This record gives sequence, C-alpha cells and structure tokens, in this order.
Amino acid sequence: MQLSLSLPKREQALMQKTYAQLFAEHTGHPAHKWEWYFDIYDRHLSRFRGKAPRVLEIGVWQGGSLEIWERYFGEGCRLTGIDINPVCLRNASDTIDIHIGDQGDPMFWDTFLFDREFDIILDDGSHQSSDMVTTLLHCWPSLAAGGVLLFEDVHACYLEAEDSQNIFSTTCNRMIDDLYHFWPRDKKPQQTLFSSTLESITFHDSITVLEKTLKTKPKHVKMALCAGSEPVSPSLQAARELYLEWKTTQMPPSEPAQQRQP
Ligand SMILES: C[S@@+](CC[C@H](N)C(=O)[O-])C[C@H]1O[C@@H](n2cnc3c(N)ncnc32)[C@H](O)[C@@H]1O
Repeated sequence: MQLSLSLPKREQALMQKTYAQLFAEHTGHPAHKWEWYFDIYDRHLSRFRGKAPRVLEIGVWQGGSLEIWERYFGEGCRLTGIDINPVCLRNASDTIDIHIGDQGDPMFWDTFLFDREFDIILDDGSHQSSDMVTTLLHCWPSLAAGGVLLFEDVHACYLEAEDSQNIFSTTCNRMIDDLYHFWPRDKKPQQTLFSSTLESITFHDSITVLEKTLKTKPKHVKMALCAGSEPVSPSLQAARELYLEWKTTQMPPSEPAQQRQP
C-alpha cells in the first residue's frame, strides 16, 4: 500500500466521513446493506483509508457498493469486483475492474488469483457455506500481510435448509485453534494454511472478519518496575505521586512506640 501524505481538500473531506454517511449520501447505482454493518466496516477497514488499498468485492450486483467503497478508501484505491452474472460487466469503469466467475469454483480462483494480491477482500456473493469456504481457502494466500478478509451475511448459512451443516462456521470456529498454534502440547505443532498467518478472527452478528499477519514465535518481554528504577513514564510517575499523597492523608499518624514493661 502507498501512503498518500498530502491529500487534496476534497479527499480529506471524504476521509472524515463514516461509511454510514457515505452510504446515506450515495446517489449512484443501488447498493444494499444491513445497517449495523456500517460501524463494523469502520472498525475493521478505516485504517486503509487514503492509503490506496487493493480491494476485491465478491458480489457486484448493481455496482453501487463498489462506488461507495471507492469514495470510502479514496483516490488511488484499486477496486475489483467479481460476480457470477455477466450483466455486472456493465459496472466496469476506468477505476473499477469487473470479472465474471463463480466463487464456488476452485478453477476460477486458480486462474483469477494467479498474479493478484489484495489488501482487502469482501465476500458479499452467494452466501452459501461451501462457496464461502472455497473463497476462504483460495483467497487467503492472495491476501497481503496486514490485510483483511471479511465475510458478510453469515446468517444465510444458518437460514438455508440445504446448508444445515454450516461448514463455513464450523471451519471458522476451528480456526480459533490456529491462533494458538505456538502453544502445542506436543513438540511438533501441525501447520495449517492459517497457523502462521492468522492475526485475529472476529465474529460479529452476520459478519466474520479475519486479519492476516506474518507470525513469529511469541517473545515474552519483562519490564522491571523496582523502586527507583528508570525510566518511569510521566503518567506512571504522576500515579505514584498521587498514591503516595493518598496514603499519607488516609493513614492515621503513627502512635509513639509504647514503652515495654520489663
Ligand atoms: C447480495 S448481492 C451483492 C450486493 C452488493 N455487494 C451490494 O452491497 O450492493 C449478491 C451478488 O452475488 C452474486 N453471486 C451469487 N452467487 C455467486 C457466485 N457463486 N459467485 C460469484 N457471485 C455470485 C449475485 O449475482 C449478486 O450480484
């Protein structure tokens, strides 16, 4: 990602707005979202704003969502949409690239992702559990370190009768073990696709967010805070002084030592 150090005024004004504000004032092609997603987007994606991220959205529909993301991430962001419906090609523009493909087809992913990498991947496509797992397994290696993979409408996996096994949620639940990869009982922990790259997994109602990193062996750092040891941060020093002041005002004056009787 490139960092835009000085943004033009119009861009700066856009960067001040929340996703909810940009959605409310959107006048382009239609987009549809559940309202509570807006804050979740800000929480997980705002750090990419103004930094020209490479964004992939699965599920283009009428193209409005890509238009909003373009304003949200600002100038220089590179947007790609994927949809199974060839009609979506009409939403392509100078700044938005559209590809037609089935997210449940591993061969499509192998070809499409061959030489591509993304900072953000948003899955708002079929919402079928097995397609989402295919997407997860194929897209993870093409997500840059520091990137985010976000699945929307996960509730659909719970609603659809034919999806009763909900393989997507089962897979994500198991991935919690990948977070603890470095804490095995045995000496040789089993490597998985996620064990050395999964930074975090966050479960919201209907949205699951995975963050990628490059993990190294955990390092335990100890900080000695003995009396008189330096350096002491100004806030810690202030807290110590407050505590000492409180102690001297709260404690009763010490009684003179009683003379022992022989
Ligand atoms: C919920 S709409 C996307 C809405 C859009 N992201 C928005 O926020 O306005 C779902 C889209 O996913 C597409 N889709 C359905 N199954 C798909 C699949 N297997 N692969 C890729 N796209 C698919 C549909 O054609 C539809 O355009």
